[in-house]
Amino acid sequence: MCTCATPIRATIADGRPVTGNVARVTTLRLRPEGPADAGPVRRVLASAFARPEVQTPPEVGLVDDLRDTDAWVSELAMVAEYGGEVVGYSLLTRVRVRPDRGAVAPALALGPVAVAPHRQRVGHGSAVVQAALDAATELGERLVVVLGDPAFYRRFGFEPAAELGLTSPWAGLGEPWQALVLPPSTSEEGPPPRGEVVFPAPWSRV
Ligand SMILES: CC(C)(COP(=O)(O)OP(=O)(O)OC[C@H]1O[C@@H](n2cnc3c(N)ncnc32)[C@H](O)[C@@H]1OP(=O)(O)O)[C@@H](O)C(=O)NCCC(=O)NCCS
Repeated sequence: MCTCATPIRATIADGRPVTGNVARVTTLRLRPEGPADAGPVRRVLASAFARPEVQTPPEVGLVDDLRDTDAWVSELAMVAEYGGEVVGYSLLTRVRVRPDRGAVAPALALGPVAVAPHRQRVGHGSAVVQAALDAATELGERLVVVLGDPAFYRRFGFEPAAELGLTSPWAGLGEPWQALVLPPSTSEEGPPPRGEVVFPAPWSRV
């Protein structure tokens, strides 16, 4: 959880509060999405991914469709709420890693990640992504893949997925194709899986 102080007026002089002034402290609340959040989440996605050429960005439908699949992990759909308003979103859903030989292994895909335009660039995006990754670690997950700008995702520890032996169904993704190995929950756990990452059907629409 991250606390952002929004002073009403300058309240500190010489390191001490100025008599008579009041500081309003607004808290960024990070929590899994609940049943009432679907509408606000749609609005955050629609505004963050808005483009002149599309009426509704495909990311909105992607999340709605994923909610109805067994790829959905309810603890890992994370919202950021600021001043009682949902302003950010970070989603981790189930994917599978199909190795050349051996059993298929579970992993997670990160995305969409979005912050409402009026609250961007103040740290909410980083906070909501980190909260989702922390929740995944607590659940004992080992591997997260993402398709996105390394300038943003590198800060969480993402690295080129190809270097971890992971391929995607889409050829030529290049640098945006990244993966993050989460810490093992026990010392007996082996290395994370390598192979082709298989995404559930809704991903084919974006
Ligand atoms: C990307 C996004 C989620 C970041 O959220 P945010 O709250 O603005 O991010 P933060 O304030 O935590 O910024 C963290 C850092 O990421 C950088 N950053 C923000 N948006 C970025 C972007 N689109 N690409 C690259 N870097 C970005 C910031 O400059 C900042 O860098 P700094 O710490 O070196 O100053 C938000 O800008 C957004 O919703 N964009 C539109 C939708 C989108 O592109 N989603 C991501 C798809 S990969």
